[in-house]
Amino acid sequence: MPGVIDADLIRLEGITHAYATGASTQAVLHDVSFSIPAGLSCAIVGASGSGKSTLLNLIGLLDEPTSGRVLLAGEDMSRASAEVRAIARNRIIGFVFQSFNLLPRLDALDNVALPLLHRGVPRQQARQAAQAQLERVGLTNRRHHRPADMSGGQRQRVAIARALVGDPALLLADEPTGNLDSQTAQDIINLLLSLNRECGTTLVLVTHDSGLAGRMARCLQVVDGRIRFPGYCNQ
Ligand SMILES: Nc1ncnc2c1ncn2[C@@H]1O[C@H](COP(=O)(O)OP(=O)(O)OP(=O)(O)O)[C@@H](O)[C@H]1O
Ligand SMILES: [Mg+2]
Repeated sequence: MPGVIDADLIRLEGITHAYATGASTQAVLHDVSFSIPAGLSCAIVGASGSGKSTLLNLIGLLDEPTSGRVLLAGEDMSRASAEVRAIARNRIIGFVFQSFNLLPRLDALDNVALPLLHRGVPRQQARQAAQAQLERVGLTNRRHHRPADMSGGQRQRVAIARALVGDPALLLADEPTGNLDSQTAQDIINLLLSLNRECGTTLVLVTHDSGLAGRMARCLQVVDGRIRFPGYCNQ
């Protein structure tokens, strides 16, 4: 990945974001600037409606800021074309959502293989890679189950395998344990942290759970669309 030697994998400069609601606009993020070095684990915490998902979606190139710059590995992505952003999303970023977002008609194997198929990888090869990821998250024996036939924790592990199959430098997770019981939540966080430690995958995780946030190396707190400094848990 070009420029990854840049110590900051993520850099936000003066980000402002507003949503259009009917005739008016609602400003949600105000002059947000921070950076996250490659390889770090970082929690984003804050009250409901404070702007955490908006922030994560901007980092993940799912949305464009109203003003300011989003740099990934030193490259300004905020004004890049839709095509360049889609390629960057597919190649650099893995996303995990609270509601798993798996395709119900596909089994675990094909759900995990999907990002590689979008990349043009031949089906057989994509399935082999998907199989390896399912093994990594301990789900080899569930590979032919559809999402409806799996538990919440298993579905989230499939979603993590799907996020990892493209070997992303950055894993973004928006309340990935919000629908899980506390033991399963701990298991999922252990899995994400082990990927961060062992593979150096940068992890940015939105959570309402201060116990889980405290396990990340750094913690950013969003208050009414601004980052409160100092917002660091452990560094
Ligand atoms: N697509 C949208 N259109 C208009 N307003 C939106 C949109 N998405 C979010 N908002 C508004 O932006 C603000 C921040 O929303 P956001 O989803 O980022 O909060 P959050 O911190 O993730 O909250 P939660 O913890 O409940 O998930 C809220 O007031 C919300 O109503
Ligand atoms: Mg949210």
